[in-house]
Amino acid sequence: MRLDVVSIFPEYLAPLDLSLIGKARRDGLLGLHVHDLRDFTHDRHRTVDDTPYGGGAGMVMKPEPWGEALDHIAGQGDSRPTLIVPGPGGTPFTQAMARELAQQDWLVFACGRYEGIDERVYEHARSAYDVRVVSLGDYVLNGGEVAVLAIVEAVARLLPGVIGNAASLVEESHEDGLLEYPVYTKPAQWDGRAVPDVLLSGDHGRIARWRHEQRLTRTAARRPDLLHASATLRGDDLPGEL
Ligand code: ADE
Repeated sequence: MRLDVVSIFPEYLAPLDLSLIGKARRDGLLGLHVHDLRDFTHDRHRTVDDTPYGGGAGMVMKPEPWGEALDHIAGQGDSRPTLIVPGPGGTPFTQAMARELAQQDWLVFACGRYEGIDERVYEHARSAYDVRVVSLGDYVLNGGEVAVLAIVEAVARLLPGVIGNAASLVEESHEDGLLEYPVYTKPAQWDGRAVPDVLLSGDHGRIARWRHEQRLTRTAARRPDLLHASATLRGDDLPGEL
């Protein structure tokens, strides 16, 4: 998979050199290109923002450097990339979207700052890209860079060969609409607290049933919205109380 990221803070993407994502890059599973938006400006101050038409607070990112940067990147390959613009006004990012993006062979990320990017850039980009505005959640970050780190990590770990043990992907929170069960390791007693007996029983059927109950209880307590969504999908009657 090829990834391009455009930002005025290219150093923000340095963590993509670390851990499993860094290894995937060194193994050739991921090609990452980080671009400095200011390299596509032509004035002495390398200006990327200006005041908003119509007034209002803050600054808006100018269309010219974005247009040039996106044209330059799209011209580097022969397939049609997906352009992801992180922003609080986007479609919520989910595990299902991560799975969908993991099927693409080229993702380009445009990191906005300030009050956002001039709207005409989105229209312009649609001629060369499938454009998606994606939100990490209902809160406001200072720019798209942190969102890109999260999205790239969620997507890249789904690529074949990136995670050593593919089985560990199957039982995760959000893979089937429920949160994960609690996990324990040695010692069996710590701080006056015991590991639940069932996990030491060696009875795999009982363990599986216990884990499933834990997932339901946890999802009901922390994310009742998920429980309702997955029960509705399966056509289940929901228990009155969990
Ligand atoms: N940029 C600013 N806020 C954001 C959010 N919530 N999600 C994604 N990108 C953002």
